[in-house]
Amino acid sequence: MDLINNEYYSAGVKLTGVAHDFGTPVYVYNAEIIQQQYETLSKSFHGITLRIQYACKALTNLSILRVMKNLGAGLDAVSIQEVQLGLKAGFRPDQILFTPNCVSIREIIAGVEAGVRINIDNISILEQFGNTYGSNVPCCIRLNPHISAGAHHHIQTGHVDSKFGISIHQLRHIHRLIKTFGIKVNGLHIHTGSEILDSSVFLKVADLMFDEAEAFPDLEFIDFGSGFKVAYKEGDVTTDIGDLGKTLSSRFRDFCRDYGRDLELWFEPGKFLVSEAGILLVGVNVVKQTLATVFAGVDSGQNHLIRPMFYDAYHDIVNISNPEGRPRVYTVVGYICETDTLGWDRKINEIREGDVLAIKNAGAYGFSMSNNYNSRLRPPEVLVNHGKATLIRRRETLDDLLLTQTEFS
Ligand SMILES: Cc1ncc(COP(=O)(O)O)c(C=O)c1O
Repeated sequence: MDLINNEYYSAGVKLTGVAHDFGTPVYVYNAEIIQQQYETLSKSFHGITLRIQYACKALTNLSILRVMKNLGAGLDAVSIQEVQLGLKAGFRPDQILFTPNCVSIREIIAGVEAGVRINIDNISILEQFGNTYGSNVPCCIRLNPHISAGAHHHIQTGHVDSKFGISIHQLRHIHRLIKTFGIKVNGLHIHTGSEILDSSVFLKVADLMFDEAEAFPDLEFIDFGSGFKVAYKEGDVTTDIGDLGKTLSSRFRDFCRDYGRDLELWFEPGKFLVSEAGILLVGVNVVKQTLATVFAGVDSGQNHLIRPMFYDAYHDIVNISNPEGRPRVYTVVGYICETDTLGWDRKINEIREGDVLAIKNAGAYGFSMSNNYNSRLRPPEVLVNHGKATLIRRRETLDDLLLTQTEFS
C-alpha cells in the first residue's frame, strides 16, 4: 500500500475507492506485486533451469492463475479440482504437478487421465500406481526428510509425525516397487513446511536429495517445495532468497555435473508470490468500549480470514479512512459467533464507525480458506493493476448458499 497525499493506493488504485465501488468486505490483489515477487525469485537463480510452480492452494481465482501463467509459472495442485481449475485457466497438463495427500488411487487415475504430472507421497499408492501403469506413466516421488521446519506446528510437513511424503527411511521399499513394476521416476520432491526463515533448511534438503538422486536414473527435475518466509510486519526478517538462489544454483550445477545430465530445479511457492499482494478491506460496524478493551467490530471475521485464529498469524491492520488520525489501541474482531480476533492490542489510527480497515498480507490462504460459517456470504475479489480495478469474483448472495441444497418442502 502506498500513502500518497493522505490516500492509500495499491497498483495506482485508491483503496477507499475500491471499498466504495465494490463494498466491504472485499479482497484486493495487486498484480504488480505478484509480478515483482515472481521476478525476484526467478532472478535469484543463475546458470540452471528454474521452474516456478505456483502453489495455487494459496489463491485459486482463475484470473490469478492466468496472471501466473502469463508470467511463465507452472502449477502445484493438491486436488483434482485444483488440476481442473489449472486446465481451465489455460495451463498445459505437463505444466501441472499434482501432489495430493491421502487420496485413493481413483483420484490419481483422474490426474493421469487429465495428462498432468503425478507426485506420489505414499507407498501404498506407489504400489497401486505401478500395478496400474507399469512403465507407461512416469511419476514423481514426494519424500519426507524428517526435518522439522516452519513457524507453526500446523504448517510443518516434513517431521517424523507428519502425514506427508514417503519416509526417506523407506527408500529401499520405494526401489523394490520401482524395480518390480518398472516405474519411471521423473522427479523427486520434498516440502518441509511454510515460513522457513533459515535458508540452510533448503540446503540441508538439497544435500539429502542429491545423495538419493543418483539411484533414480530417469529424473527430469528436483522439486524443493516451498516455505519461503514473507514479512508480516515492518522489520520482519524474511528468507534470504538472493543468498539461497546463489548457493543453491551453484550446488545444483555441481550436482547435475555429477549426475551426468542437466535437470530442472523446481520450487512451488504460494505465500511468497501472493501473500503481500493481497489486502482484505473490511468496514467497521461498531466501536465497542468494554471495561478493559476498545473493540473495533468489523463486517468480516474468521469466515473470510481464518489465519489469525488457525495459525496465530499476525496481519497488520491499517485504518485507510483516517491516515492522519491519532493512534489508539484497539482489538479488531469479526462478526462471527466465535472468538474471531483479527488483531489484539493494535496501535491503529483512531477508528470511527463506518471507517475502512485494510488487513494486510491477505493474498495467501485468505479467500481460499474462507467459508460460509454463520451463513455469512463470501466477499468479492478485485484485481488491481496499473491504475485499474477489475472485479474477478462477485460477492456471494443468499442464492449461492441455497444452490446445493435439495429437497426443501
Ligand atoms: C506441497 C506444498 N507445496 C507448496 C506449498 C506452498 O507453501 P507456501 O505457501 O509456504 O509457499 C505447500 C503449502 O502448504 C505445500 O503443501
